[in-house]
Amino acid sequence: MKILFVGDVFGSPGRQMVKEYLPKLKTKYNPHVVIINGENAAHGKGITEKIYQQFIDSGAHVITMGNHTWDNREIFEFIDRAHQMIRPANFPEDNPGKGMVFVTSAGKEVAVINLQGRAFLPPTDCPFKKADELIKEAKKRTSIIFVDFHGEATSEKQAMGWYLDGRVSAVVGTHTHVQTADERILDKGTAYISDVGMTGPYDGILGVNREMIMKRFLTNLPVRHDVADGRTQLSAVVIDIDDKTGKAKKIERILINDDHMFFE
Ligand SMILES: [Fe+2]
Ligand SMILES: [Fe+2]
Repeated sequence: MKILFVGDVFGSPGRQMVKEYLPKLKTKYNPHVVIINGENAAHGKGITEKIYQQFIDSGAHVITMGNHTWDNREIFEFIDRAHQMIRPANFPEDNPGKGMVFVTSAGKEVAVINLQGRAFLPPTDCPFKKADELIKEAKKRTSIIFVDFHGEATSEKQAMGWYLDGRVSAVVGTHTHVQTADERILDKGTAYISDVGMTGPYDGILGVNREMIMKRFLTNLPVRHDVADGRTQLSAVVIDIDDKTGKAKKIERILINDDHMFFE
């Protein structure tokens, strides 16, 4: 079982990169399951039904979210029919949507779980305890379990990786928008990376127009967050998993931008 995961898709530059490179990545890797983090897909804030559908039509099996889940209010209208979308499972119990979904590809079932960290992010239920609960449920159906852990602190993400080592196939970090070079297979067979990185503007600051963000740091005044123009990038990982055991065999980091040309 091969899973391709694309990190935080940011605004139209990010969607354009998915459109351009997802077919090429699919040709190169032949993934059975494609997962996209879409929390910033609509102008950097949340997602619309049209964008969700575009991702599904482009071959994504699951869309994961994060702290920007509710930023575009349209989500409240369509989340109940967006069966392939998950938001952090450790949000308050009565929130709309769900935090885990099962997808079947090549005759194998995969459980995909979305969790959110608590360091430097709004309060949520404990992601570690929630992971225990969901893994127990997922194991009744499959040994292939993929976790998108949306968090700010690398310490919290490493802690989650080691906490779930041997119990899930992969723990990939999202949210910081900066790819980390620490991809590895942990001791008991869980693929891990602290952050997959962002798909969208390459010359902004985490995807946002950099003049605005610099002004914010220099003045402490509130600023608009426009999507940055110019060059673009795509960040992803491909994870190879043993179908029978659910253990990861390989994790490969993908970074496509003008300084890291992946496709010649
Ligand atoms: Fe993000
Ligand atoms: Fe985020």
